[in-house]
Amino acid sequence: MSVVALSGLSQAKLLDWYDANQRPLPWRETDDPWAILLSEILLQQTQVSRGIVFWHRMIEAFPTIQSMATSPVDSVLKAWEGAGYYSRARRLHALSQYVMLPSSEGGYDGLLPQSYESLLSLPGIGPYTAAAVASIAFRQPSACIDGNIRRVMARQQKKLEPTNRQVQSWADQHLVHQRSGDWNQALMELGATVCTPQKPQCQHCPIESSCQGREGPTAYPKAKKTKVKEVTLWTCVEFDSRGNPIVHQRDKDGLFGGLWGPQINEGDVPEAIHEQVFAGVVKHKLSHRSMTVHVFISTKTSTKLALPLSEVATSVLDQKIIEAIKGTDYFSSKSVTE
Ligand code: ADE
Repeated sequence: MSVVALSGLSQAKLLDWYDANQRPLPWRETDDPWAILLSEILLQQTQVSRGIVFWHRMIEAFPTIQSMATSPVDSVLKAWEGAGYYSRARRLHALSQYVMLPSSEGGYDGLLPQSYESLLSLPGIGPYTAAAVASIAFRQPSACIDGNIRRVMARQQKKLEPTNRQVQSWADQHLVHQRSGDWNQALMELGATVCTPQKPQCQHCPIESSCQGREGPTAYPKAKKTKVKEVTLWTCVEFDSRGNPIVHQRDKDGLFGGLWGPQINEGDVPEAIHEQVFAGVVKHKLSHRSMTVHVFISTKTSTKLALPLSEVATSVLDQKIIEAIKGTDYFSSKSVTE
């Protein structure tokens, strides 16, 4: 291994630390590109502890690209249920179908392509995932950048607001080509477990000696303010004669696209709704949205028959709404003849 002393950062020390201290994550025990791709898509917006649960669930349901490509998108959404950011599941399904196409039709004959550029051209694959999969699954020399790597770089270089270009250039310069996948993961692992946002454990850091920000690491990088929009919503859920809530499939392009749930309306609760049964207020937070939903039960039994919730994919918000309803005296007092 070539050890380059760029900015004093010892790549050998970080890799040795990674070899000895990496978390035993299930996708690190496989060299199946599909399983690795799945982990990287999940980990983009899901914490590692939850990512493990969903990774097992997804790989069991769809062990190969082919198995996903030949399944309906609704079954992919059902397996993804609870993981959030559902467009990832829909794009993954599109990716699987695209990769399965014969090369004469622009596909990849069922094999994930290996280069950064061709991975980047697939649905749902951005620069981070393309570089992560190219390096981890195919040993290509691609440096990836994510929030953890950005923080490690900002502290090493004492930069308050490094641009993506600066972080990428730092990552490119330090990439260990012979162990690119391990190198990328070592940087992410350091950011996730030692060089953490609030309480970095500099005494355990293998590259502390080259860290220019070590006197006050938490100042780097400067925290970005995320704007969270507060929204008021209301719903009035109808039930069918068997006690199942009436749900519909949400528009693919909106929030919780492709998932099933009751009609949720934006805006203040209309006066007339107060004639229905109030079931409570449900709160739900997404990264950029804080939702307060006023939940009502329609006193009218629908003449339609609803699909049982166990058969369709629903969001955590919808599950909270149903739970609120089930907790009411009104719901318990109604005879349910399932
Ligand atoms: N975050 C996203 N992918 C990761 C990986 N492979 N290792 C550690 N953290 C990650």
